[in-house]
Formats: sequence, structure tokens, C-alpha cells
Amino acid sequence: MEDKKIAFVSGANRGLGFEFSKQLTDRGWTVIAGYRSEETSRQLLELAGSSELLHAFRVDIADNKQVERLKKYLSENFGQLDLLVNNAAINPGEDASLSDVSSQDILQATSVNVIGVLDTTRQLIPLLRKGKNPRVVNVGSRAGLASHARNKTIPYGLSKSMLNMLTAQQAEAYRDDDIAVIVITPGWVRTDMGGSDADLSPEESIAGMLTVIDRVTLNDTGAFFDHKGERLTYD
Ligand SMILES: NC(=O)c1ccc[n+]([C@@H]2O[C@H](COP(=O)([O-])OP(=O)(O)OC[C@H]3O[C@@H](n4cnc5c(N)ncnc54)[C@H](OP(=O)(O)O)[C@@H]3O)[C@@H](O)[C@H]2O)c1
Repeated sequence: MEDKKIAFVSGANRGLGFEFSKQLTDRGWTVIAGYRSEETSRQLLELAGSSELLHAFRVDIADNKQVERLKKYLSENFGQLDLLVNNAAINPGEDASLSDVSSQDILQATSVNVIGVLDTTRQLIPLLRKGKNPRVVNVGSRAGLASHARNKTIPYGLSKSMLNMLTAQQAEAYRDDDIAVIVITPGWVRTDMGGSDADLSPEESIAGMLTVIDRVTLNDTGAFFDHKGERLTYD
């Protein structure tokens, strides 16, 4: 257990979360990969079945009872957490304009992309306190910046903007615990969310982000990075 590096990744059955889990295990990390449904997680479950380092755990981050179960599972089986990747997110009502955007979509985006991150993180803080160089990585987006307000994806943009503020608040709250908290944007990536025209493959984006995450120390807490390690401002 001593030398093990333990990570939890939310939304790890597909897209960037799956690739995060794969590349972290390739680097020797023990990864607990969150998924919601067995039917849509075959690839992850197969990989977990053939890897000693990869463990799949069913958790919907918008359901705080399930997040509590995750905390219990991690406490009983691993006893510490070195890296929390808050990756899971949704993008409902992406084509709506301000005249027709639904408040339900805004609430739904907020409940996963913001409250899910807040709740997962606060539940896992006691385990992160026991970790080595503990880091929380919130996967953000340029869609949360005021300079990108002209884009559609209104519920998503609002939620990612809130995620930036949440990152700043978490950075302050957990500084004295020596836990670094950053927000990072993966770039525009070919996943279900990014679509097939996107610039980057998941492999390229994750390789870049892991290089950045590797270098994160407490001095970086609160920072917003892109996948190449450029520092962005919150506006
Ligand atoms: N792709 C891009 O171009 C891009 C750009 C900027 C930022 N990002 C960010 O990168 C992250 C990953 O995006 P992606 O492109 O990989 O998206 P994706 O392909 O749509 O995958 C989203 C993942 O989140 C999971 N998820 C959704 N709601 C959840 C919940 N309530 N609890 C647990 N898991 C949940 C999904 O699980 P199910 O399969 O069960 O639905 C899926 O595994 C997100 O934070 C996204 O905002 C992506």
C-alpha cells in the first residue's frame, strides 16, 4: 500500500474519463473508475477485469448517497486518495438560446457539473488528507469563460463558470490541508461531447493533461490550465 498512488476518476466509462483511467494505470497508478450503467460501460468493465490496477465503481455523482458509498468503498479498500479527477459532466440543452433555454436544463447541468463536484470533493477530503502530494483536478472548459459567452451551450457554460469559482473556493478551503485544487480544460476533443470534428484525440488531450497534473504543487492551487500547461485567466 505504501508506494501505491491512488486516483479516483468520475465518468470513466467513455470519453476523456476512460482515457484518463487508461493512461493513469499505464503510468502505474491504481485507479478507481466511476461509471453509472453496466450496459454503457462494457469496455471499462472488461479492462477492469483484466487489470490489477483498474477498479470500476458504480457512482452517479449527482446522488449524494452514492457518493457516500464511494467514500466508504475507498476508505475500506484503499485508505487514502492521491488524485481526484472530477471529470464527469453533461451538456443539456446545448442548442437553446436565452429566449428558449429551459431552467430545468440549467438545474440539471448545475447538479452534475457543480454540485456533483462539490459533493464528491468534500466527501473525499479526509482520504485526500492521507494522500501523497494530494491533488484535486476539476475538468473545466473555455465555455465557462465570459469571453466565450457568444457560444450556445448556455446551461453548460453557466455550470463551467460556476466550476471555476468553485475551484477558487476549494483552493482556499483546502490550502491548509496541503491539497492543491486546479481546473483544467482538455481542449476540443473527439468524444461524444466534443463531436467528431474536434481538434484532438482523447489520447493527445489526456497525455497533455497528465503532464500538467504531474507538475502541480500547492503553489498552483486555484490555477486554470489548458492541456498544454498554459495558464488561463478566469475571464
Ligand atoms: N470533449 C471536449 O471537447 C471537452 C471540451 C471541454 C471540456 N470538456 C470536459 O471534459 C470532461 C469529459 O468530457 P467528455 O468529452 O469525455 O464527455 P462525454 O464523452 O460526454 O462523457 C461524459 C462522462 O460523464 C459521465 N457522467 C455524466 N453524468 C454523470 C453523473 N451524474 N455521474 C457520473 N458520471 C456522469 C458520463 O457517463 P454515462 O456514460 O453514464 O452518461 C460519461 O462517462 C467534462 O467535464 C467536459 O465538460 C470536454
